[in-house]
Amino acid sequence: MANVLLGVTGSVAAVRVPALFDAFTAAGHAVKIVATNAATYFFDPAPLRASGVLTLDEDEWPGRDSGERYARGDEVLHIELRKWADVFAIAPLDANTLAKLAVGLCDNCLTCVWRAWDVSRPVVLAPAMNTLMWQHPFTRRHLRSIAADSGASHIPAHLADEALIAQINDRSKTLRIVSPVTKQLACGDVGIGGLADVSEVVAAVQFMLARAQAA
Ligand SMILES: Cc1cc2nc3c(=O)[nH]c(=O)nc-3n(C[C@H](O)[C@H](O)[C@H](O)COP(=O)(O)O)c2cc1C
Repeated sequence: MANVLLGVTGSVAAVRVPALFDAFTAAGHAVKIVATNAATYFFDPAPLRASGVLTLDEDEWPGRDSGERYARGDEVLHIELRKWADVFAIAPLDANTLAKLAVGLCDNCLTCVWRAWDVSRPVVLAPAMNTLMWQHPFTRRHLRSIAADSGASHIPAHLADEALIAQINDRSKTLRIVSPVTKQLACGDVGIGGLADVSEVVAAVQFMLARAQAA
């Protein structure tokens, strides 16, 4: 059993958050979720909020709207989440947050966790986006940049998507990318970009946890 922090971003594939939560729980893990504001358009946060497992950006700034201020000793939530987590799995990972991860922007709780992450601990990224977003040169640029910071540098730029992801997964000890799948996307287009099956995301996390334990 491990502490799995599930990051969720504003892809339509965030409809699968309840299924992801259930699958990680069924695998015996303790699960917390950190979601962007955009992500909550796609699933009902209420039950997960009620059970205390879902962190939203507003939780980083308690009492701000009523004029309260940070006091020394107050928890810094993104640091607490990072300390708690054995693995950080971002599923779905949308194009916007992928770009932020690649350059280190941290303007919400999820990206602050990423920016404060202990890079010796495993991360799993499961992108989901429209086919042309996925095929845009930015995507591979961002993936290669994250890979280079995760110990998989000098990956050739010309590799096809599958080979690129295979090389990243092979060469990085701490990063695993779960390839998106080809299907009819929510926008109606047919092509690559759909979130991988929930079981694939869980399998990637299990693989990284086992590898971390063996190290
Ligand atoms: C209905 C709808 C579906 C979307 N689906 C996706 C998607 O699957 N992948 C993606 O990269 N962006 C998608 N977007 C765009 C993101 O939600 C948008 O870039 C947002 O700013 C992401 O914010 P976040 O990265 O902070 O979650 C979608 C937007 C809408 C309105």
